[in-house]
Amino acid sequence: MNFSESHSRVLVALDVPTREKALQLAHDLEDHVGGFKVGLELFCSCGPQIVEEIGPSRTFLDLKFHDIPNTVASVSRVAARMGTLLFNVHCLGGFEMMSAAAQAAKAENPLCQIIGVTILTSHDSESLRKIGLSESPRDAVPRLARMAREAGLDGVVCSAREILRVREECGDDFLLVTPGIRPASAEIGDQKRVLTPTEALKAGASYLVVGRPITGAQNPVAAAQKLFD
Ligand code: C5P
Repeated sequence: MNFSESHSRVLVALDVPTREKALQLAHDLEDHVGGFKVGLELFCSCGPQIVEEIGPSRTFLDLKFHDIPNTVASVSRVAARMGTLLFNVHCLGGFEMMSAAAQAAKAENPLCQIIGVTILTSHDSESLRKIGLSESPRDAVPRLARMAREAGLDGVVCSAREILRVREECGDDFLLVTPGIRPASAEIGDQKRVLTPTEALKAGASYLVVGRPITGAQNPVAAAQKLFD
Protein backbone atom coordinates (compact mmCIF):
# COMPACT_ATOMS: atom_id res chain seq x y z
CA MET A 1 0.00 0.00 0.00
CA ASN A 2 1.46 3.39 -0.94
CA PHE A 3 1.72 6.53 1.19
CA SER A 4 -1.45 8.30 0.06
CA GLU A 5 -3.64 5.20 0.26
CA SER A 6 -2.58 4.70 3.86
CA HIS A 7 -3.20 8.32 4.80
CA SER A 8 -6.61 8.33 3.13
CA ARG A 9 -7.70 5.77 5.76
CA VAL A 10 -6.85 8.10 8.65
CA LEU A 11 -9.66 9.96 10.42
CA VAL A 12 -8.36 12.55 12.89
CA ALA A 13 -10.34 12.77 16.14
CA LEU A 14 -11.01 16.48 16.62
CA ASP A 15 -11.29 16.21 20.41
CA VAL A 16 -10.97 19.94 21.00
CA PRO A 17 -13.33 22.35 22.77
CA THR A 18 -13.77 25.15 20.24
CA ARG A 19 -14.90 25.67 16.66
CA GLU A 20 -11.78 27.75 15.91
CA LYS A 21 -9.37 25.05 17.05
CA ALA A 22 -11.30 22.32 15.19
CA LEU A 23 -11.49 24.27 11.92
CA GLN A 24 -7.80 25.20 12.15
CA LEU A 25 -6.83 21.53 12.54
CA ALA A 26 -9.18 20.49 9.72
CA HIS A 27 -7.74 23.17 7.47
CA ASP A 28 -4.11 22.27 8.24
CA LEU A 29 -4.62 18.50 7.94
CA GLU A 30 -7.10 18.22 5.06
CA ASP A 31 -4.46 17.35 2.45
CA HIS A 32 -2.77 14.80 4.71
CA VAL A 33 -5.60 12.59 6.00
CA GLY A 34 -8.87 11.07 4.78
CA GLY A 35 -11.24 12.86 7.15
CA PHE A 36 -12.18 13.92 10.64
CA LYS A 37 -14.07 12.62 13.62
CA VAL A 38 -16.47 14.85 15.53
CA GLY A 39 -17.04 13.49 19.02
CA LEU A 40 -19.00 14.47 22.08
CA GLU A 41 -16.86 17.40 23.22
CA LEU A 42 -16.87 19.26 19.92
CA PHE A 43 -20.50 18.44 19.13
CA CYS A 44 -21.71 19.62 22.55
CA SER A 45 -19.74 22.80 22.30
CA CYS A 46 -20.56 23.71 18.66
CA GLY A 47 -23.70 21.79 17.66
CA PRO A 48 -24.48 20.16 14.29
CA GLN A 49 -23.21 23.25 12.46
CA ILE A 50 -19.65 22.05 12.99
CA VAL A 51 -20.33 19.01 10.78
CA GLU A 52 -21.50 21.33 8.00
CA GLU A 53 -18.38 23.45 8.38
CA ILE A 54 -15.94 20.54 8.32
CA GLY A 55 -17.82 18.86 5.47
CA PRO A 56 -20.29 16.03 6.18
CA SER A 57 -18.89 13.65 3.54
CA ARG A 58 -15.53 13.55 5.31
CA THR A 59 -16.89 13.47 8.86
CA PHE A 60 -17.36 10.51 11.18
CA LEU A 61 -20.00 11.63 13.69
CA ASP A 62 -18.98 9.72 16.83
CA LEU A 63 -21.80 10.27 19.31
CA LYS A 64 -22.27 6.55 20.21
CA PHE A 65 -26.06 6.56 20.50
CA HIS A 66 -27.20 4.22 23.29
CA ASP A 67 -30.82 4.42 24.47
CA ILE A 68 -34.14 2.62 23.97
CA PRO A 69 -34.82 1.50 20.35
CA ASN A 70 -37.41 4.21 19.62
CA THR A 71 -35.13 7.04 20.79
CA VAL A 72 -32.09 5.74 18.92
CA ALA A 73 -34.16 5.18 15.75
CA SER A 74 -35.33 8.81 15.91
CA VAL A 75 -31.86 10.30 16.37
CA SER A 76 -30.43 7.95 13.71
CA ARG A 77 -32.94 9.38 11.24
CA VAL A 78 -31.64 12.87 12.02
CA ALA A 79 -28.00 11.78 11.78
CA ALA A 80 -28.63 10.01 8.45
CA ARG A 81 -30.06 13.25 7.06
CA MET A 82 -26.80 15.05 7.86
CA GLY A 83 -25.03 13.06 5.12
CA THR A 84 -21.94 12.13 7.13
CA LEU A 85 -19.35 9.59 6.00
CA LEU A 86 -20.16 7.51 9.13
CA PHE A 87 -22.09 7.77 12.37
CA ASN A 88 -22.40 5.29 15.21
CA VAL A 89 -24.55 3.65 17.85
CA HIS A 90 -23.42 1.51 20.78
CA CYS A 91 -23.70 -2.27 20.28
CA LEU A 92 -24.38 -2.72 24.01
CA GLY A 93 -27.77 -1.11 23.34
CA GLY A 94 -28.71 -4.52 21.92
CA PHE A 95 -29.98 -6.11 18.72
CA GLU A 96 -33.38 -4.41 18.69
CA MET A 97 -31.85 -0.99 19.19
CA MET A 98 -29.29 -1.49 16.42
CA SER A 99 -31.90 -2.89 14.07
CA ALA A 100 -34.31 0.01 14.72
CA ALA A 101 -31.44 2.47 14.14
CA ALA A 102 -30.36 0.84 10.87
CA GLN A 103 -33.90 0.67 9.48
CA ALA A 104 -34.70 4.29 10.36
CA ALA A 105 -31.39 5.61 9.05
CA LYS A 106 -31.49 3.70 5.75
CA ALA A 107 -35.10 4.70 5.12
CA GLU A 108 -34.05 8.34 5.53
CA ASN A 109 -30.82 8.09 3.52
CA PRO A 110 -30.04 4.77 1.83
CA LEU A 111 -26.41 5.83 1.32
CA CYS A 112 -25.66 6.52 4.99
CA GLN A 113 -23.16 4.29 6.77
CA ILE A 114 -23.95 3.38 10.35
CA ILE A 115 -21.53 1.46 12.54
CA GLY A 116 -21.62 0.01 16.06
CA VAL A 117 -19.16 0.57 18.90
CA THR A 118 -18.34 -2.90 20.25
CA ILE A 119 -16.16 -2.59 23.38
CA LEU A 120 -14.35 0.71 23.96
CA THR A 121 -10.62 0.47 23.34
CA SER A 122 -10.07 1.92 26.82
CA HIS A 123 -11.43 -1.36 28.31
CA ASP A 124 -9.49 -4.53 29.05
CA SER A 125 -10.71 -7.78 30.66
CA GLU A 126 -10.10 -6.41 34.14
CA SER A 127 -12.15 -3.23 33.64
CA LEU A 128 -14.97 -5.24 32.00
CA ARG A 129 -15.03 -7.56 35.04
CA LYS A 130 -15.48 -4.52 37.29
CA ILE A 131 -18.71 -3.62 35.47
CA GLY A 132 -19.91 -7.21 35.67
CA LEU A 133 -19.00 -8.46 32.20
CA SER A 134 -17.08 -11.74 32.36
CA GLU A 135 -16.29 -12.08 28.65
CA SER A 136 -12.87 -10.84 27.45
CA PRO A 137 -12.78 -8.16 24.72
CA ARG A 138 -11.26 -10.85 22.47
CA ASP A 139 -14.49 -12.88 22.66
CA ALA A 140 -17.03 -10.07 23.16
CA VAL A 141 -15.97 -7.95 20.18
CA PRO A 142 -16.47 -10.56 17.39
CA ARG A 143 -19.74 -11.65 18.98
CA LEU A 144 -21.07 -8.08 19.12
CA ALA A 145 -19.81 -7.42 15.60
CA ARG A 146 -21.75 -10.38 14.26
CA MET A 147 -24.86 -9.11 16.04
CA ALA A 148 -24.31 -5.66 14.52
CA ARG A 149 -24.06 -7.15 11.06
CA GLU A 150 -27.24 -9.19 11.55
CA ALA A 151 -29.01 -6.04 12.77
CA GLY A 152 -28.16 -4.30 9.47
CA LEU A 153 -25.20 -2.11 10.45
CA ASP A 154 -22.41 -1.45 7.92
CA GLY A 155 -19.51 -2.04 10.29
CA VAL A 156 -18.14 -1.69 13.79
CA VAL A 157 -15.64 0.23 15.85
CA CYS A 158 -13.14 -2.15 17.46
CA SER A 159 -9.49 -2.39 18.42
CA ALA A 160 -7.15 -3.24 15.57
CA ARG A 161 -6.13 -6.23 17.72
CA GLU A 162 -9.55 -7.79 17.08
CA ILE A 163 -9.67 -7.30 13.31
CA LEU A 164 -8.80 -10.85 12.29
CA ARG A 165 -11.53 -12.42 14.39
CA VAL A 166 -14.11 -9.81 13.36
CA ARG A 167 -13.26 -10.35 9.69
CA GLU A 168 -13.78 -14.10 10.18
CA GLU A 169 -17.23 -13.43 11.67
CA CYS A 170 -18.38 -10.61 9.41
CA GLY A 171 -16.51 -10.87 6.09
CA ASP A 172 -14.38 -8.55 3.99
CA ASP A 173 -17.02 -5.96 3.09
CA PHE A 174 -17.78 -5.03 6.72
CA LEU A 175 -16.31 -1.65 7.75
CA LEU A 176 -13.80 -1.90 10.61
CA VAL A 177 -12.97 1.43 12.21
CA THR A 178 -10.14 1.25 14.72
CA PRO A 179 -9.26 3.78 17.42
CA GLY A 180 -6.55 3.02 19.98
CA ILE A 181 -3.89 3.75 17.36
CA ARG A 182 -0.48 4.63 18.77
CA PRO A 183 2.79 5.08 16.87
CA ALA A 184 5.52 3.15 18.74
CA SER A 185 6.91 6.35 20.28
CA ALA A 186 3.55 7.82 21.43
CA GLU A 187 1.99 7.99 24.90
CA ILE A 188 -0.74 5.37 25.35
CA GLY A 189 -2.81 7.55 27.76
CA ASP A 190 -6.17 6.02 28.75
CA GLN A 191 -6.26 3.54 25.83
CA LYS A 192 -5.54 -0.12 26.59
CA ARG A 193 -5.97 -2.23 23.42
CA VAL A 194 -3.60 -0.36 21.08
CA LEU A 195 -1.69 -1.12 17.86
CA THR A 196 0.58 1.00 15.67
CA PRO A 197 -0.84 2.58 12.48
CA THR A 198 1.10 0.22 10.23
CA GLU A 199 0.01 -2.86 12.19
CA ALA A 200 -3.62 -1.75 12.06
CA LEU A 201 -3.56 -1.26 8.30
CA LYS A 202 -1.82 -4.59 7.75
CA ALA A 203 -4.45 -6.30 9.88
CA GLY A 204 -7.13 -4.93 7.52
CA ALA A 205 -8.66 -1.84 9.15
CA SER A 206 -10.96 0.18 6.89
CA TYR A 207 -10.29 3.42 8.81
CA LEU A 208 -7.86 4.35 11.59
CA VAL A 209 -9.08 6.90 14.15
CA VAL A 210 -6.12 8.87 15.48
CA GLY A 211 -6.53 11.63 18.04
CA ARG A 212 -3.87 12.78 20.49
CA PRO A 213 -0.83 11.42 18.60
CA ILE A 214 -1.71 14.03 15.91
CA THR A 215 -3.75 16.74 17.63
CA GLY A 216 -1.50 16.83 20.70
CA ALA A 217 1.71 17.06 18.67
CA GLN A 218 3.69 20.30 18.43
CA ASN A 219 3.30 20.04 14.67
CA PRO A 220 0.13 18.05 13.79
CA VAL A 221 0.88 18.02 10.03
CA ALA A 222 4.35 16.54 10.60
CA ALA A 223 2.87 13.99 13.02
CA ALA A 224 0.28 12.97 10.41
CA GLN A 225 2.91 12.69 7.70
CA LYS A 226 5.15 10.51 9.90
CA LEU A 227 2.33 8.19 11.03
CA PHE A 228 3.41 5.19 8.95
CA ASP A 229 7.19 5.70 9.19
O1 C5P B 1 -6.66 10.47 21.31
P1 C5P B 1 -7.03 9.09 20.84
O2 C5P B 1 -6.23 8.63 19.64
O3 C5P B 1 -7.00 8.07 21.98
O4 C5P B 1 -8.54 9.24 20.35
C1 C5P B 1 -9.36 8.14 20.06
C2 C5P B 1 -10.73 8.64 19.72
O5 C5P B 1 -11.54 7.54 19.36
C3 C5P B 1 -11.45 9.36 20.86
O6 C5P B 1 -12.17 10.43 20.26
C4 C5P B 1 -12.41 8.35 21.41
O7 C5P B 1 -13.60 8.95 21.87
C5 C5P B 1 -12.71 7.50 20.18
N1 C5P B 1 -13.09 6.11 20.43
C6 C5P B 1 -12.31 5.22 21.13
N2 C5P B 1 -12.72 3.93 21.34
C7 C5P B 1 -13.87 3.52 20.83
C8 C5P B 1 -14.68 4.40 20.09
C9 C5P B 1 -14.24 5.71 19.89
O8 C5P B 1 -11.21 5.59 21.58
N3 C5P B 1 -14.25 2.25 20.97
